[in-house]
Amino acid sequence: MIKLAVLGSTGSVGTQTLQVVEKFKEEVEITALVAKRASEKLLHQVIRFKPKIVVSYEIPSKQWLSYLPSETEYLHGDSGLTEAVRISDRVMNAIGGVSGIKPTNVILKEKKILLASNKESIICLGDIVKKNRELIIPVDSEHSALFQLMHCVNREEIKCVYITASGGPFKDWSLEEMKKATVEQALKHPRWNMGAKITVDSATLMNKGFEMLEAVNLFNLDMEKVKVVIHPESSVHGAVQLKDGTFLMHVGKTDMRIPITYAVFYPQRKNYPFGETSLLSLSPLHFEEVDESKFKAISLVRTVSKKGGAYIPALVGADEESVDLFLKGKIGFLDIVPMVERVLEKVNIPAPKTVEEILFTVEWARKQVKEIYEKEYAKVG
Ligand SMILES: NC(=O)c1ccc[n+]([C@@H]2O[C@H](COP(=O)([O-])OP(=O)(O)OC[C@H]3O[C@@H](n4cnc5c(N)ncnc54)[C@H](OP(=O)(O)O)[C@@H]3O)[C@@H](O)[C@H]2O)c1
Repeated sequence: MIKLAVLGSTGSVGTQTLQVVEKFKEEVEITALVAKRASEKLLHQVIRFKPKIVVSYEIPSKQWLSYLPSETEYLHGDSGLTEAVRISDRVMNAIGGVSGIKPTNVILKEKKILLASNKESIICLGDIVKKNRELIIPVDSEHSALFQLMHCVNREEIKCVYITASGGPFKDWSLEEMKKATVEQALKHPRWNMGAKITVDSATLMNKGFEMLEAVNLFNLDMEKVKVVIHPESSVHGAVQLKDGTFLMHVGKTDMRIPITYAVFYPQRKNYPFGETSLLSLSPLHFEEVDESKFKAISLVRTVSKKGGAYIPALVGADEESVDLFLKGKIGFLDIVPMVERVLEKVNIPAPKTVEEILFTVEWARKQVKEIYEKEYAKVG
């Protein structure tokens, strides 16, 4: 029996993880569920899966607590999260955004298997991730694909790797049109149904930039060997180009439950329990170059990767705050990446060495975005 904790259980990846567990009830025990709020959804999950521990960061009402099954203990905040990790073998970190950084550190410190969905932590905790690679199974569909493909060949055979991008909702829009893009339009991802922050990151292509940084940390690759290609169908999740000029591709449905199942059971491969798949249904497959004059996040990430140090957590913090301002209707879609760029221009702090220093840098960058917004946008708005 696999003892699995799900952090961020009420979100998009968390919910799909529980759908997978539902199909393999005899083989997985949910030990703990963790979310931000003591919401109705979390309560329903607890009643359904009866974990040993439930954790929230919001203080629950007496009534909420009264509905908990007798098997389940309520624990609060960071100490609850640490306990949830301790009693598990594998931990899915599907917490959204920079709030996932500390949990990834706890999971790896406790030497548990990390099912790595939260990408902000894989990017920011570079050195810790690199030291603990054998404990990490990627969940992002692109990295799950590369993880599987790279196990098929010797490293010397690999020329480069490709991460695919659907291109998001604005792939074919002009810059003039993108300038007027609304929150609702940005949240309409053509292929994936995900949380709000990653959906906006997919529209700016910052998500692909983050995935490039993730690939560098997870697979010990030089950034020059990590390429991005637009693939509107999102059926090919990743590809490895070999030195003889051929490509190995990982192709499948756009269903996050596939990489989630792979990570939960790795190294065992399970049957797909959510219907049939056929190669014909995945046809046709198209590939296009990224228009980097429109999607500047990609070249920005390459620069940040070269600079390293404080630039990486600053990129992640500034992006999170800028996306938040966009989602609140305070800045425009085309303000997001330039806002991040401006914060990066201000970076003059030493490379963070500890997790505390990394978190400090993330928060520093968020504060810079707030300050730029207050000075330049709030007054005008
Ligand atoms: N969605 C996808 O298909 C997908 C694919 C690949 C990678 N990822 C990555 O996976 C992560 C999660 O994405 P998502 O789309 O599933 O996000 P989401 O739908 O927004 O869900 C976020 C989850 O995190 C919880 N959470 C937020 N802040 C928290 C905090 N401070 N402490 C504890 N829990 C907190 C939320 O709890 P509440 O519900 O109580 O707010 C919710 O359960 C992100 O890093 C994303 O980039 C997602």
